[in-house]
Amino acid sequence: MPRKIAAGNWKMNGTEASLAELAALTANHPAPSVSVLLCPPATLLARMSATAGPIATGGQDCHAAVSGAHTGDTSAQMLADAGATYCLTGHSERRTDHSETDAIVAAKSQAAYDAGLTAVICIGETLAEREAGTTLAVITAQLDGSVPATANAQNTVIAYEPVWAIGTGLVPTTDQIAEVHAHIRAQLSDKDIPLLYGGSVKGTNAAEIFAVPHVDGALVGGASLKAADFSPIITALENA
Ligand code: PGA
Repeated sequence: MPRKIAAGNWKMNGTEASLAELAALTANHPAPSVSVLLCPPATLLARMSATAGPIATGGQDCHAAVSGAHTGDTSAQMLADAGATYCLTGHSERRTDHSETDAIVAAKSQAAYDAGLTAVICIGETLAEREAGTTLAVITAQLDGSVPATANAQNTVIAYEPVWAIGTGLVPTTDQIAEVHAHIRAQLSDKDIPLLYGGSVKGTNAAEIFAVPHVDGALVGGASLKAADFSPIITALENA
C-alpha cells in the first residue's frame, strides 16, 4: 500500500443512495497512486466494500471485545468480515460523545490489530488546551495512552486532528501543523508510522497542508461525502 493516505470519514451520514458517490470516486480515480480510504457508517460498510475497487474501506469505531453481550456495538472482526481493512479509533467525537479514554482507545486499537485491521488512531488538542499552551503535552499524553506498544508502520496510522478544527472551517497555520507533526514523528521515532492531518481539509487548502513536513495525507470529514469535493483532495495528495 502506498504510504500517502487520503482518508474519508462519513461519520453518521449516508444511505444506499450515497454509494453513487463511491462510484463517481472510483471512476475519477481508477488507479490512484496514493492509498484512498473511506469509512462509511457501519450499515454501508459491506455494500461499499463490495464495489470499492481500488478504494479501501474502514470502520469508524470498534468494540475492544471480539464478541459478546454489547448491544449496539460492532467488533473489529465484524468490520473485517464486512470487508474493512482499516478502523478509526479515538476520533474526538467518540472521545467526547462516548467518554472514550486513552486506555479505551488503546484497547480498541489492539482489537483492530488482532482482527488484521490497520488502526487510524486519532489525537488532538481542544481550543482551551491550545490557548493554555499545552498542545504538545496533550499530544504526548494521548500518544502514550492511546497507541499500543505493538503499533508499527503496517498496523497503525496516526491522525492529528485539532478538536477545534473539526467541522468548523478553522484550520491551524502550516507552522502549527508542522510543529505538532514533527513532535509526533519525534515521539514515534522508532516506528515509521504514517501521519495524517485532519480538520476542515478541503480541495482549496489540501495542497498547502500536504506540503508540510511529516504530513503523509489527510483524514477528511465533510469534504469526503461528495466525490466532487474529495477528488481534488486525492489529486492534491497524488501531486504532493
Ligand atoms: P472535517 O472532519 O473534515 O469535517 O473537519 C474531520 C474529521 O472529523 O475527521
